[in-house]
Amino acid sequence: MPPSIRRTFCFLALIGLAAMPVQAAPLAAGAVASPDRYGALAAAEVLRAGGNAADAAVATAFALAVTYPEAGNLGGGGFMTLYMNGKAYFVDYRETAPAAASAQMYLDAKGAPITDLSLTGPLAAGVPGTVKGLAEIHARFGKLSWARDMAPAIHFARDGFVVPPALVQERADEPRLSSGVANFDRYFGVMRTGAVFRQPDLAATLRRIAKNGPAEFYSGKTADLLMAQMTRGGARGLITTADLAAYKVVWREPLIADWRGYQVITAPPPSSGGIALTQLLTMKQDAAPLFKGVALNSPQYMHLVSEIEKRVFADRAEYLGDPDFVKVPAVALIDPAYLARRAGQIDPAKPSPPAAVAPGLEKPQTTHFSVVDKWGNAASNTYTLNGSFGAGVVVEGAGFLLNDEMDDFSVKPGAPNQFGVVGGAANAIAPNKRPLSSMSPTILTKDGAVAMVIGTPGGSRIFTSVFQVLADVYDFHLPLSTALAKPRFHHQLLPENTIFFEPYAPASKVLVDALRVRGYRTEDQGYNGDIEAIEIDGQTPVPAADPRGRGVGMVVR
Ligand code: GLY
Repeated sequence: MPPSIRRTFCFLALIGLAAMPVQAAPLAAGAVASPDRYGALAAAEVLRAGGNAADAAVATAFALAVTYPEAGNLGGGGFMTLYMNGKAYFVDYRETAPAAASAQMYLDAKGAPITDLSLTGPLAAGVPGTVKGLAEIHARFGKLSWARDMAPAIHFARDGFVVPPALVQERADEPRLSSGVANFDRYFGVMRTGAVFRQPDLAATLRRIAKNGPAEFYSGKTADLLMAQMTRGGARGLITTADLAAYKVVWREPLIADWRGYQVITAPPPSSGGIALTQLLTMKQDAAPLFKGVALNSPQYMHLVSEIEKRVFADRAEYLGDPDFVKVPAVALIDPAYLARRAGQIDPAKPSPPAAVAPGLEKPQTTHFSVVDKWGNAASNTYTLNGSFGAGVVVEGAGFLLNDEMDDFSVKPGAPNQFGVVGGAANAIAPNKRPLSSMSPTILTKDGAVAMVIGTPGGSRIFTSVFQVLADVYDFHLPLSTALAKPRFHHQLLPENTIFFEPYAPASKVLVDALRVRGYRTEDQGYNGDIEAIEIDGQTPVPAADPRGRGVGMVVR
């Protein structure tokens, strides 16, 4: 894990909007679980105006681009899983490599990766997909006008929002942004805890997009400003007007798996998340006899889950990449017989020796929100700039940050990256290719009705976190908010025999000793997840925000 990691503060107490207790009254308008209160307020405004889950998701995504700038975005990309009118959809608005990108672009003359080149500055940015993705979702499903869905975001940008302490801490955690390669401080250096922060350039950009539609971003004045940013300063970015014009959103078949009477509707490649989540859930079920009588989060529980995670990460590094460029054996990877065989290889007594493969390159900062409406529709959205505040490059005059998603590619396939892990050839850089992701926006349905909407940031921790919460709720029968508050841990094949813990719930000495006896070392991963989920019990939505973050769960009446 990089040193620049996110520390979280519990902002909920300050704003008085903690995950609200759910009343038994019938659902009036919907519910939202958002990583901050402004995203929740945007969804609530749109749901009350008669919008559906898709409208609310569009409104929240634009609002978070203003008030959650470390991950909410116009200049990044993401995935949305939807369940609309009884049918499942998956929208891939992931960034793409510019046409001029090459497998050598982050390597020096000797072929070694150049520190930070894929992380900070214009060269780190992929072609953004968010605005086009949200526009296509709105055009297909929205009930309200595009401008109506964007109105809350424009309001927060123009009139400002109160800066939470967690946001200022996030900025402090990213000294790379002030290195001079990026112009981040010019826009975000003035944010102060508790003060109102206004973003007039961003407000104007949002107003233009509201008026002119997504073409404004890809070929209008906003595109011109982005092009000017690519050539401004020392480092030149690769994104061209042709890249912007060529950007395509892809509507993919969601990955749907049967699990314990539920349909798990989740992310297909270019995310590794859905395949990994399905493997985790299925192998844990296959290994049920080993888990019998094993207490949640006990040392033996952690060992067994690590054994499963190890196998998932081995597959991930070897097989997964953009399916439009490499053949991903998705069906084989979630084949029940294959997973039963893999689960059968779990050693209940000690860690299996790791294979010589490791996970791809990822940064933890991303964000997720979940929405349901009164018609039974749901939207589960995870989007990202990749690193906290992305490449740190603000498009001057337009006020939005560019992603550093290029770092999600294997900068040099087969070579260890700065965190000591290697990526596979399937995820090598190629023009117009999408980098491998772990984002796992997921919806569970039972008998055709939405039962759970869930997701989180966390890079390679994303699907192991979603998996743990689903296991807590469905295997251990914990209420959703209790499950979110439980400690989470992570293992990813390499570093060998290492179990990671979050700062939110460090491992006790007793636990560390017990894991050491089983052959593991423990490490603080320096980063907390941020699950935003809604469970639906009959007609009643139970939203819950992760106590690790500044999120809000809200039933909208
Ligand atoms: N950038 C994080 C992910 O896509 O998984």
